[in-house]
Amino acid sequence: MRPRLWPEIGDSQQVRYLATWVAPDDLGTQFPKLELLFSTGAGVDQFDLAALPPRVSLVRMVEPGIVRGMVEYVTHAVLDLHRDMPAYRRAQQQRQWQPLPVRTAADCRVGVLGLGSLGQAVLAQLVALGFDAAGWSRSRRELPGVHCHAGDDEQGAFLARTQILVCLLPLTDATRGVLNEALFAKLPRGASLVHVGRGPQLVAADLLRALDAGQLAEAVLDVTDPEPLPATDPLWRHPRVRITPHIASMTQPRTAARVVIDNLRRHARGEALVGLVDRARGY
Ligand SMILES: NC(=O)c1ccc[n+]([C@@H]2O[C@H](COP(=O)([O-])OP(=O)(O)OC[C@H]3O[C@@H](n4cnc5c(N)ncnc54)[C@H](OP(=O)(O)O)[C@@H]3O)[C@@H](O)[C@H]2O)c1
Repeated sequence: MRPRLWPEIGDSQQVRYLATWVAPDDLGTQFPKLELLFSTGAGVDQFDLAALPPRVSLVRMVEPGIVRGMVEYVTHAVLDLHRDMPAYRRAQQQRQWQPLPVRTAADCRVGVLGLGSLGQAVLAQLVALGFDAAGWSRSRRELPGVHCHAGDDEQGAFLARTQILVCLLPLTDATRGVLNEALFAKLPRGASLVHVGRGPQLVAADLLRALDAGQLAEAVLDVTDPEPLPATDPLWRHPRVRITPHIASMTQPRTAARVVIDNLRRHARGEALVGLVDRARGY
């Protein structure tokens, strides 16, 4: 097997494995022998799943570098909110010495939407720091030290206990617009949001309304819709919104290459692939 780097791919008719962020519309005809399509990122929402030939297996990136970056970002955001740093930054601008009550992590209820490779790793760190942690996923999960909730029936109870909500859901038809007014209303008054999933999961107008009404206290957004966020967007100027340019975590080539090679070996042996996407579910 000879690896080739785009655009020097030689005869595309012979390519069996492709690692890429985006795919051409005519993938099936351009690469008639393609067996595996690796996303170079953790998500696969950038692909048109319906346009991928059925013979091609789609694999998302599950690698230690992405996981580490996400654990760092979310832990930082949660600790920042838990220790009232947004309020202290505002107080400093006013030159006000204004101590707030110090709460322990055990008194802070953090909830993570999505208990996949990233949600699980984030929760393990939050549990280690002593937070009262909960999670929500489609199917039932059991994670040490985490109050796990599953499905639409248990979403209300999960939200009702969550003071800091972290979104780590994949973007699918079912999760588009999920962070909306109805969901915010189910959180306790004054809850905060850390959004690290995908921009189209958030209804930005609903977030701004919830912040202005005091239903939400703060929002940390690493993803927006569109990206980059236009300079005129009101999210930029809101005093209780912090925005980073989709940098929460990124694929680290060194560790990711090992994972791709391991998956190629698994494929050759006919074994299950790590990160294989279920096209019907969309993630
Ligand atoms: N901001 C960034 O820099 C950045 C970086 C990397 C990834 N991300 C985002 O993070 C997402 C999650 O990554 P991951 O590797 O953890 O994904 P994953 O392993 O596929 O896990 C997805 C989780 O979401 C749950 N889920 C999906 N649809 C749901 C629904 N409709 N209702 C309830 N739960 C649902 C799944 O439930 P089940 O457990 O029942 O399957 C699973 O627990 C990615 O898709 C990407 O969008 C962002």
